[in-house]
Amino acid sequence: MSEAPHGAPIKTPGQLIAAIIAGFGIPVAIIILLAVYVNNSTRTGAGTDIEQSVRERIAPAAQVDIRDANAPRVYKTGEEVFKAVCSTCHAAGTAGAPKFGDAGAWAPRIGEGYDTLLHNALNGKGAMPARGGTSPDDYSDFEIARAVVYMANGSGGKLAEPAQPAPGAAASAGASGATAASAPTGASANENAQAAAAVAALASVPQTASAAPAAGGQSADAAQAGKALYEQVCQACHAAGVLNAPKFGDKAAWAPRLKEPMDTVYNYALHGKGAMPPKGGSNASDADVKAAVDYMVNAAK
Ligand code: HEC
Ligand code: HEC
Repeated sequence: MSEAPHGAPIKTPGQLIAAIIAGFGIPVAIIILLAVYVNNSTRTGAGTDIEQSVRERIAPAAQVDIRDANAPRVYKTGEEVFKAVCSTCHAAGTAGAPKFGDAGAWAPRIGEGYDTLLHNALNGKGAMPARGGTSPDDYSDFEIARAVVYMANGSGGKLAEPAQPAPGAAASAGASGATAASAPTGASANENAQAAAAVAALASVPQTASAAPAAGGQSADAAQAGKALYEQVCQACHAAGVLNAPKFGDKAAWAPRLKEPMDTVYNYALHGKGAMPPKGGSNASDADVKAAVDYMVNAAK
């Protein structure tokens, strides 16, 4: 009776340990909770948006833009595409681009008809890069078309809004977007910077580039003409790899492209591909462009 009063809660060593842990642990836990509570209320203070500050804190350092291939695609308006892409040149009339709002510069072009305008916007024309230098993964044909109409109508035109593609078409466009989903959002900002670099490069392209008197002994002079055209035009992008152009002499960049038949490669150079403008934005002869391709390809072998 004197040793163990009945009903004593601690009877075994295990219970003793548990009691000690509880005796220390609970006050410590309370202290920690109090500290967190006080700290929290002083940090967020009155009136600050706690949820937002939490979201900012837990936001991943680099965000990845995941596009859900199955989600209905939300198309950018013509104005949005214009601001994001086309304004690089068309806002100020850089590189000879018809300026937004300049009815005089647009009238003859609008006179060619909407189909021609759209075709040129999608495939490039002179110093105008195909799709303004973007890829179909960034902006669908429909979005480019909207930008064309936005610019034309902002410059005296009265074109009808292009029709939105059927959901099926949108899904496949979305799917192709999904393949590019791993690219960080920074890419589009990067693209703008690159487009600006390309503009600077293009501004130095002589529009009347005729590499060499292509008349006489053509094949003998072809190599010479190719080199000359490269130096006049193509190197603006291909020397430094502006807009991801395969760099001159960079075997790794050229190898996958040279797996295609040479005719295909010529065709890309003649008619454009992605951000590569047809003939590099020059009006050189087909023969000279092919010669320039040969010159670049030989340097990458
Ligand atoms: C790198 C500069 C640049 C960018 C970016 C650019 N353009 Fe152009 N664009 C030009 C130039 C230069 C011309 C004039 C081409 C010519 O007539 O030789 C032009 C002409 C055009 C024309 C008139 C074509 C015709 O038939 O005469 C359309 C339409 C057009 N651009 C649409 C667009 C759209 C849409 C975008 C954005 C998605 C865009 N451009 C982005 C430089 C650019
Ligand atoms: C405004 C920048 C620019 C200029 C100027 C330019 N290119 Fe390109 N070029 C590119 C880009 C960007 C690519 C990559 C296109 C892609 O793969 O989507 C490319 C790709 C190519 C390719 C590889 C096509 C393939 O097989 O994939 C050839 C060939 C080529 N250019 C030839 C030329 C020639 C010849 C000239 C000069 C007459 C020239 N380029 C001028 C930007 C340019």
